[in-house]
Amino acid sequence: NWSMDDFIDLQIAKIREQVGDKKVLLGLSGGVDSSVVGVLLHKAIGDQLVSIFVDHGLLRKGEAQQVMDSLEGKFGLNIVKVDAQDRFLNKLAGVSDPEQKRKIIGNEFIQVFNDEAQKLEGIDFLAQGTLYTDVIESGTDTAQTIKSHHNVGGLPEDMHFSLIEPLRSLFKDEARALGEKLGMPEELVWRQPFPGPGLGIRVIGEITEDKLEIVRDSDFILREEIKKAGLDRDIWQYFTVLPGIRSVGVMGDGRTYDYTIGVRAVTSIDGMTADFARIPWDVLQKISVRLVNEVDHVNRVVYDITSKPPATVEWE
Ligand code: XMP
Repeated sequence: NWSMDDFIDLQIAKIREQVGDKKVLLGLSGGVDSSVVGVLLHKAIGDQLVSIFVDHGLLRKGEAQQVMDSLEGKFGLNIVKVDAQDRFLNKLAGVSDPEQKRKIIGNEFIQVFNDEAQKLEGIDFLAQGTLYTDVIESGTDTAQTIKSHHNVGGLPEDMHFSLIEPLRSLFKDEARALGEKLGMPEELVWRQPFPGPGLGIRVIGEITEDKLEIVRDSDFILREEIKKAGLDRDIWQYFTVLPGIRSVGVMGDGRTYDYTIGVRAVTSIDGMTADFARIPWDVLQKISVRLVNEVDHVNRVVYDITSKPPATVEWE
C-alpha cells in the first residue's frame, strides 16, 4: 500500500543522510526484523553495509547453517559469520538470574560487534532490527522494565558508533508487511519470532551444554510436529523450555528420575499480549510421545496454558 512505499522512501532518505559515506555494521540474526533492516540498508547504502551473524551457541538445531543458506549472497548481503560460542557460554557459566543472563548476552553481542568493527575499520554506525515492542518492554519509554530485551538500552559509553534502528516505530506485523513489500521470501518473512538471547532464556536458570542439547532436540521435534499439523502459520510462536526440575516416572520395568519439558505455544498479533494456542489434543499427544521417546533425560511433558498477561511469552 501507499504508506508502506512512503515508509521505505522516507527511511532510505533518512539512512542516506545519516550515514553519508561512512560504513554501517548490522547484527543479522536471520530473523525477519534484522533481515528486513539488512535489505532496507542495502537499498539505501549498498556496499557500505557490513552484516555480521553471531553464532552465540544459543541457536536452534541447524539454525546457523540455515541462516547462512537463506541470506548469504542474497539481496546483495555479504555476511561475516562469527563463531562466538565459547565466549558466550564462558561468560554465562554459573549464572542463573534471568536479568543477569540477558544483560551478559546483550553485552557480549556488543563486544563481538565492537571487535569486528575494529577489524574492519571505518565503521561509524551499528544497525539493529529493534521493534517498537522491544522499546516498550525494555522500559525505555515507560517507567518499568519487564525484561531487558537484548537489543535495547543503547550502547556503553566507550563504544564509538551510533545506532541505526529503522524499525523502531513498527510492530511485528508491520515489519513483516515491509519485508513482503521489499520482495523477501515467504519463509523468511513468516519465520516465527526468536529472541536475541536465544535458547539461553529457555534453559531456566544456569545454562549448561547438556541442557541446551535437550532444549535444542525437543524444540526441533516440536517444530516438526507443528508444521506437520499445518499449524505453523496460525501459531505466533511455539517452543520448548527446560525448567530444570526432575520428577519420577516409569519406563519399561524401571523407575526414572528425569527432566520435565515445558511446551509453550501462543497466538498473538504483536507479542505484547498473547493467548495460549488451542493445539488439538491429538497433536499434543504426538508431541508428548515423541519428546519422551526421542529426547534423552526427558520423562514428562507439560503444556503451558497461561496467557500474557499475566505470564510472558518466554519463561525468562
Ligand atoms: P515476552 O517473553 O517478553 O516476549 O512476552 C515477547 C516477544 O519478544 C520476544 N523476546 C525478545 N526478542 N530480544 C528479542 O529480540 C529479546 O531479548 C527478547 N526477549 C523476548 C519473545 O520471543 C516474544 O516473541
